[in-house]
Amino acid sequence: MTKINILPNIAFFDSSQGGLTVWENVLKRFPNLNTQYLGDNARCPYGNKSQETITRYASEATLYLASRNALLLIIACGTASSVAAKELQHLFKLPIIGIVEGFCKFVASLLQDKTRTVAVLGTKFTVRSNRFNEELGANGVEKVWARACPLFVPLVEEGISQGPMVDAACDMYLWDIPEDTKVVMLACTHYPRLTLPIAESLERRLGKTVIYKSIDGDWVLKLGSKEQNDPIYLVESSLPIVNFVEQFIVSNQYENILNHGEKQVLCTDSPEQFESIARFFTSIPLPKVEAVEIQT
Ligand code: DGL
Repeated sequence: MTKINILPNIAFFDSSQGGLTVWENVLKRFPNLNTQYLGDNARCPYGNKSQETITRYASEATLYLASRNALLLIIACGTASSVAAKELQHLFKLPIIGIVEGFCKFVASLLQDKTRTVAVLGTKFTVRSNRFNEELGANGVEKVWARACPLFVPLVEEGISQGPMVDAACDMYLWDIPEDTKVVMLACTHYPRLTLPIAESLERRLGKTVIYKSIDGDWVLKLGSKEQNDPIYLVESSLPIVNFVEQFIVSNQYENILNHGEKQVLCTDSPEQFESIARFFTSIPLPKVEAVEIQT
């Protein structure tokens, strides 16, 4: 693979556009960061593929981004983070971070009473991998309830993030969420676009206030009709990633080499189709999206 003339950067990878929710939050904190983002839209969705296939796809993407001057790779995909991150960390010299570890640590720190339930919403494969259960357990969380929500990704990718179909999907997935749930984790990077309907569904089911923890602070998304003193926290994966990026830059003294604001957005299938969906995930204007070939 030829070395291309690109400034040192922080690379993001997702099966498609969902990881732009993480990319956007990192850029909100560091607007001049050099970044490249690769969405593997030719092979999305990953959430219902096998471990071997997801790991192969993620390895190819890593190799590709490493050849383009990446100093750190963020796997901004819940599925690839759950299934492939550990193997990639063994295979590559490039520092690689997925969303699972920091996210679970952060959630455990929110949970004063470790016997309360943490709910994990993710793709089929994320849930099947048990990765979040393991990592939450390692952080002292005793009860984890995980639910695969396969309709969420196609809904968001169709630009449908509110209305009766979304409400019905949320109620269908959350109807049996345990009464003692304290934190709900959005373990898929597509799901932050559904925070409001998810919060409303949680309130319908449990009658509690729902607070969204975002990098812009805490937002009350829905006031509880029954209980306002024991809120449920709805959390997404960006906050720990943003904090990790900050530490990474400071501890490696990268402040001066990563701040030219160069942004590259790459995909593996039609850039037009990528862009038309990307607008549902980020309000940051994208540079011209480029289609690339990453298969080895
Ligand atoms: N971005 C993926 C994730 O976070 C969801 C889409 C897919 O299934 O590939 O798990």
